[in-house]
Amino acid sequence: MTAIPKIVAINGSERDGNTAYVLRYAAKIAEARGVEFDTVDLRAIRMGPCGPCGDCNRRTVPCVVDDDVPAVVERMAAADGVIYATPVHGFAAGALMQTFIERSGVGYLRFTRPLTNKVGGVIVLARRYSASVAYQQLTANLLLNRMILAGSGFPAEVHALHVGEAADDEEGLINVRRMVDRMIDMIEVLREYRALGGRAELLAPRERNERLGLPVENFADEAVGHALG
Ligand SMILES: Cc1cc2nc3c(=O)[nH]c(=O)nc-3n(C[C@H](O)[C@H](O)[C@H](O)COP(=O)(O)O)c2cc1C
Repeated sequence: MTAIPKIVAINGSERDGNTAYVLRYAAKIAEARGVEFDTVDLRAIRMGPCGPCGDCNRRTVPCVVDDDVPAVVERMAAADGVIYATPVHGFAAGALMQTFIERSGVGYLRFTRPLTNKVGGVIVLARRYSASVAYQQLTANLLLNRMILAGSGFPAEVHALHVGEAADDEEGLINVRRMVDRMIDMIEVLREYRALGGRAELLAPRERNERLGLPVENFADEAVGHALG
């Protein structure tokens, strides 16, 4: 982790549209509080779908698909906070975010859960329908990765259809602001705790991996080190 607190936001939209607008809004809030805000546009990286190998559950070393996903995982692992932001497509998270969740999760994160104790947040853009479905999917993934979820009061769901309309959803943006502020509050609390206690490890890890059927010691740290470059 760097000296300046950092949040990495994953943008699952195909365009420079409403999700990008809301993330720029979130970035301004973070930067005003001295937090670096790094956005990864999934549309701009090399990211393939899961392949037909189907051996994820037996593998003890990371995915072999050669693209930019491990580099993004590395950026998240180096941050204090992570935001998953996606538009709703077809009543669920859009395809780019879905692909990222599959590739990063099964391919890399499941080994030693390197996002453990990072502060997590979710932002969903939708015209109207099923924002809560995508919201629940992404919060479940943050929790799967043992992140600490920062509540926003009402969910950070912003309603917009055409590019630019996100700016009109005042209540949605208030929820985004509250979520970003609470993420930063929590990041500051955790940093202070670490500094006071002199402990890099926030909570006892207890176990490195929850997968049944594969001995934990099979998930060699080197394998994950390799995955994280
Ligand atoms: C292929 C596609 C499917 C969509 N499906 C839904 C949907 O199921 N529910 C909904 O409320 N909005 C849906 N929308 C609208 C988008 O969620 C909305 O336009 C959002 O603001 C897009 O964010 P963006 O500009 O960051 O891409 C869909 C849009 C597209 C392009």
